[in-house]
Amino acid sequence: MSAREKTASVESHQFDGLPGALLDWYARHARELPWRIGPGKRADGVTPDPYRVWLAEIMLQQTTVPHATRYFHDFTRRWPSVDDLAAAEDADVMAAWAGLGYYARARNLLKCARQVSEAGGWPKTEAGLRELPGIGPYTAGAVAALAFGERTPAVDGNVDRVFARLLATQGDWKAEKVRIAALVRELVPADRPGEFAEALMDLGATICTPKRPNCLICPLANWCAARAEGEPDRYPIKPAKKAKPVRRGEVYVIFKDGHVLTERRPDKGLLGGMLGLPTSSWVEEGEPASADWLPDEAEQIGDVRHVFTHFELRLSVFSSAEGLPVHKGDWTPVEKAADGLPSVFRKALKLAL
Ligand code: ADE
Repeated sequence: MSAREKTASVESHQFDGLPGALLDWYARHARELPWRIGPGKRADGVTPDPYRVWLAEIMLQQTTVPHATRYFHDFTRRWPSVDDLAAAEDADVMAAWAGLGYYARARNLLKCARQVSEAGGWPKTEAGLRELPGIGPYTAGAVAALAFGERTPAVDGNVDRVFARLLATQGDWKAEKVRIAALVRELVPADRPGEFAEALMDLGATICTPKRPNCLICPLANWCAARAEGEPDRYPIKPAKKAKPVRRGEVYVIFKDGHVLTERRPDKGLLGGMLGLPTSSWVEEGEPASADWLPDEAEQIGDVRHVFTHFELRLSVFSSAEGLPVHKGDWTPVEKAADGLPSVFRKALKLAL
């Protein structure tokens, strides 16, 4: 046993009774979600379809449940199985993903579906799932526990928050997260790992929320050091975030006969493989502005702003209603573009309309 496992094992005794209390609460309060089968059916030995579990997990990585739900229904209607998704056209999947953000996820989604379809089915373990494109430690743990009943933890930011409060963690946040991961692994009950993971998700979403957690109705209150201290939303204590750099540029919304000028973005890089509107290059403060493609006749109509993982983008929007003598790009029907463009370009299009 490693030193870390020993610490987790000692700590886990402090939480004797916690998994049972959490599962009892979940049996009564589970959220009904379209990718779930619910605690009642689970008790009868039914497990959910791994394709639906995986698809939901990928969508929910950076997206809220209400926003992802619409996309989940759309995807499962169009592509009911992993084999259907594997056979889909890249451009159709990228367009269906538009608005969910983090487009590398959509490219990996397709790669993963094709690999699973090719192999004739899903690997059924955390370790096997981890080998697939786009599946990191959290998703591997979640799918293994939820769909295959493996005794694995699924620790995301919500679970980190719940345990930071239970433990009232004070140390370096990176190190505390390692400690939490080891502790949760110890606590997963062998007979109901899927429900345990779902219960923690629901607790984090409905009770142990980032702001103003509702400790009065929390089933874990008796074990919670942060609640005992009286200021649970002080946790987790994280290092201050660095301000994001700002990049600026121009975006061109050029209409002609009910169509708008678009271009397919290169596969690699930001918004890779997505439909896009033409833009200048984007430069940070202090870098020389460069206009690679600046139509003279376009009129500036406003600005849009969009926050990406590593920077904030501010684009001046130029528009022209009567086409321009352009040499690249495609003319896409306006409605189709409105559906298939990622959010930053959708904002520019909306402004121009
Ligand atoms: N957050 C991440 N995965 C989730 C899931 N499967 N259900 C609800 N919320 C989640």
